[in-house]
Amino acid sequence: MQVVVNNQDTHHHHPHSSSSSSKEKSTTFHLLCKNHKLYLAPMVLQSELAFRLLCKKYNQNIITYTPMISSKKFVNDKTYRKHHFQTATGDRPLIAQFCGDNAATLIEATNLIKDQIDAVDLNLGCPENIARKGDYGTFLLRNTKKVVSIVKEMVEALKPLPVTCKIRLLEYGNHIPEFQRGLAGTIQLCQDLENVGCSMICVHARTRHNKGRKISQADFDAIREIKNNVQHIPIIANGNIASKEDIIDCYKLIGNIDGIMSAEAILGNPTLFEAIEYNNENNIMMFNNTKVGQHHMPSEIANEYIDFAEKYPPFDIMKIVKPHVYRILHGLFQYDEKLLERLQKCKKDLNEYKIIIQDAFALEQKLLDGLNKLEHYHGIVGKKNEMKTKFISTLLSSYYYRHRPKNVLPEKIQKVLMMRQIIQNDDDNNNMNIDDGSKNTLLNTDLQQQHQLQGGGKKLSQHERRMQLKEERQKWMEFGVRISR
Ligand SMILES: Cc1cc2nc3c(=O)[nH]c(=O)nc-3n(C[C@H](O)[C@H](O)[C@H](O)COP(=O)(O)O)c2cc1C
Repeated sequence: MQVVVNNQDTHHHHPHSSSSSSKEKSTTFHLLCKNHKLYLAPMVLQSELAFRLLCKKYNQNIITYTPMISSKKFVNDKTYRKHHFQTATGDRPLIAQFCGDNAATLIEATNLIKDQIDAVDLNLGCPENIARKGDYGTFLLRNTKKVVSIVKEMVEALKPLPVTCKIRLLEYGNHIPEFQRGLAGTIQLCQDLENVGCSMICVHARTRHNKGRKISQADFDAIREIKNNVQHIPIIANGNIASKEDIIDCYKLIGNIDGIMSAEAILGNPTLFEAIEYNNENNIMMFNNTKVGQHHMPSEIANEYIDFAEKYPPFDIMKIVKPHVYRILHGLFQYDEKLLERLQKCKKDLNEYKIIIQDAFALEQKLLDGLNKLEHYHGIVGKKNEMKTKFISTLLSSYYYRHRPKNVLPEKIQKVLMMRQIIQNDDDNNNMNIDDGSKNTLLNTDLQQQHQLQGGGKKLSQHERRMQLKEERQKWMEFGVRISR
């Protein structure tokens, strides 16, 4: 399968797109952006050095960000500085992301590391309460004039280091002055940022209210409008990227977008970008056919992560390594809850995690055996590889989909239920010895469950529907490891 998107053929071509503009200022940084269309998002406690190197191992053409760093603490606290900014060879291109509302502090913080980064980014997206208190992150967007003046000062003081911004969409609503609300306000802000010398803008296409359980589709139409109205600097799209197919679709949907960023999906599947290739001559985002069929099991990826974490120890194993292992192995916990319980008990010793990962490996072998048996018993002849690919991608996207049940049902959950039953059956019988009769039961039970999940054909009352959704959601919900962000 090869999907090719040629943006030169899309209808959303900007009249002054960079390729046709003579006014274009082609800085080194913009060249860098042109050649690297894939971005690993800044993530508190999760886009640390070890994880960045892991993602880059699967695709070198990634621009990565540090987690959000408090500019104030970075300037004032030596230990904080050591903990929160770690780098090594192979870690470039790298953008350091700071939060803060004081230009002088942001400049001072950046100056401490400016030789080790390719750009500095101002966080304008963090919606957490701590950001509200500090008046930084997305709360700064309530005063766009202040944002623009901070960026202006940073650009002037830090030259030639590029300054970039990561924003959310501005809120809608009549209570907000017109010039800084909604899509029009967001476009105005981006134009103003461009005018004061901002080098690139990443748009997380949600507003600050659109988070947690209220999370919904990112608004790609908004990103397209922004892209069409900002003339010379790269615009990066962020939000809703769950799979490699989504990356290609996003590129197609937005049209002429300069890059795509992933956060949650790549946490669950650090190989997300592996098979994606950007062809710079033709402006095509496509699958690399030799890589698209490659399989990486969660245990393999988790082991590689641990290798990096051993080489470049993150400052807090419990807060950084544990959530990574949890997220990478997430798809396996539905087959063995004890594995999760044991992971929850892991502390600071990386060897403890290695043991869990070994057991994850054994479980995977069992699941793959189950797949072979499925083929054998259900006559899915010749589809083994396809099923295997689908199954592994279900495992690796499990974390992203945990609170998005509607997107995943029923086709994907169907596979999962089928597998789970095979495993349980295996456990019950100790060795898998299914005769023709039980084979049918197995399949029937699976179909029944699936049928029930879809509402069993009968019309459900609102209450039943709600209960059903709750049940579905619980199936996918993360439990255990509390992730603070
Ligand atoms: C664990 C976690 C930590 C995050 N930390 C940051 C951060 O430090 N700075 C930031 O700008 N955004 C942060 N975000 C938001 C992401 O960068 C991204 O904008 C958001 O998750 C939407 O992308 P997605 O749909 O690919 O997950 C974080 C997200 C997650 C899941």
